[in-house]
Amino acid sequence: MVGLFGPKKVKQIRAAKRLQGMARMPGDKSISHRYAMLAAIAEARSEIHYFATSADCASTLACLEKLGGKIERKDSLVTVEGAGASGLRAPHTRLDAGNSGSTMRMLAGILAGQPFHSAIGGDASLSRRPMRRIIEPLTRMGARIEASPGGLPPLEIEGGRLKPIRYELPVASAQVKSAVLLAGLFAEGETQVIEPARTRDHTEIALEHMGAEITREGNTIALRGPARLQGGKLFVPGDISSAAFFLCAALLVPESNLMIQNVGLNPTRTAILDVLAGMGGQIHISNLESLNGELVGDLHAESSPLKGGEIPRAFVPQLIDELPVLSVLGTQTEEGVWFHGAEELRVKESDRIAAIAGNLRRMGADVEEFPDGLRVGGRQALRGAEIDPQGDHRIAMAFAVAGLVASGVTAIGDFECARISFPSFFEDLERLIA
Ligand code: S3P
Repeated sequence: MVGLFGPKKVKQIRAAKRLQGMARMPGDKSISHRYAMLAAIAEARSEIHYFATSADCASTLACLEKLGGKIERKDSLVTVEGAGASGLRAPHTRLDAGNSGSTMRMLAGILAGQPFHSAIGGDASLSRRPMRRIIEPLTRMGARIEASPGGLPPLEIEGGRLKPIRYELPVASAQVKSAVLLAGLFAEGETQVIEPARTRDHTEIALEHMGAEITREGNTIALRGPARLQGGKLFVPGDISSAAFFLCAALLVPESNLMIQNVGLNPTRTAILDVLAGMGGQIHISNLESLNGELVGDLHAESSPLKGGEIPRAFVPQLIDELPVLSVLGTQTEEGVWFHGAEELRVKESDRIAAIAGNLRRMGADVEEFPDGLRVGGRQALRGAEIDPQGDHRIAMAFAVAGLVASGVTAIGDFECARISFPSFFEDLERLIA
């Protein structure tokens, strides 16, 4: 197909008859970043099993190696020789976070507490993403950080002795919360972070599991530093944000019956299941267990008629990565789907509100864009179209799901950007619809 994208790098998707079988998701991206970073500054060796295959997590490992981290990777097993709290070394060159906001923001927290200078940059998309949100608290703790005009990457970080702060997050962001907590590991006394809304708490769980003194009361998290972390065996659950694409596809495509094993079901990540169930989606959980403090279970989804409706504002921070695919799903519901309070979507790997609206319109859908959200009409007959994911993995995968219920051919340009979180997405999808 030649057109918007030229002849290459286009994945063609056609309407599917069913989605059937078993699938396993890549290891959770959020948890993998955290385990790798914490293992690098912990004592003793850590074995991280089922580490994410995502390109973002490979960026984190590469940065840690440049900081002197001793890391070995064999498929999804990552072994990290913990260097201890003062074991990282000044990097010779600028650290490259690639496309990964989590790498840059969370690692900045650790770099703020190091007695050396470091620089960290990323690709064109990451270079447009706001960093003042971490610069501000980390500076208050005593680090010196310089950014490009507008508070954009790359960052130059002069770390050093930090003091604990009490910090009220202006935006609900797990990355910013984590940056402050990770810096707090190096500060003498109690660092407190107050969240405006509850966000994913993998950092808190991992810190506690590895021996830090950390507590939560209401929306306030308190960490006592300096902390010594203990490495060990860690298991990463499958990524529920990756599972979301297949769950939505299974609900929408007729005659579907899909089992996804070993998915992370941390309650700060499962709003997607509540929203889908609330719309009438048949999704069942089984085999619940706890793995290093994180809930894990199997999910079974079957095609279901869906009602749609408003996604409540209070759910938005815990659903932020699933809103693209939920918007696509909305077009196939009775009432459509709409939400507000999601301005953060505009500063993700792409402006996701604009990317969803633009691509859905190309497929013939009725969409209304708000500064902080979106409304998609229900019962839309989608037509295959050329999709521009704007280099954003979640947009590429969300529109692959749209293609499964559209007439004609949906051509996803630059589909390989899915590797950022889910390198085998298109092969897995092809297998499940075969
Ligand atoms: C993440 C937090 C979220 C999310 C991102 C991963 C994390 O970002 O969108 O994909 O691992 O902490 P924000 O902290 O910017 O909301």
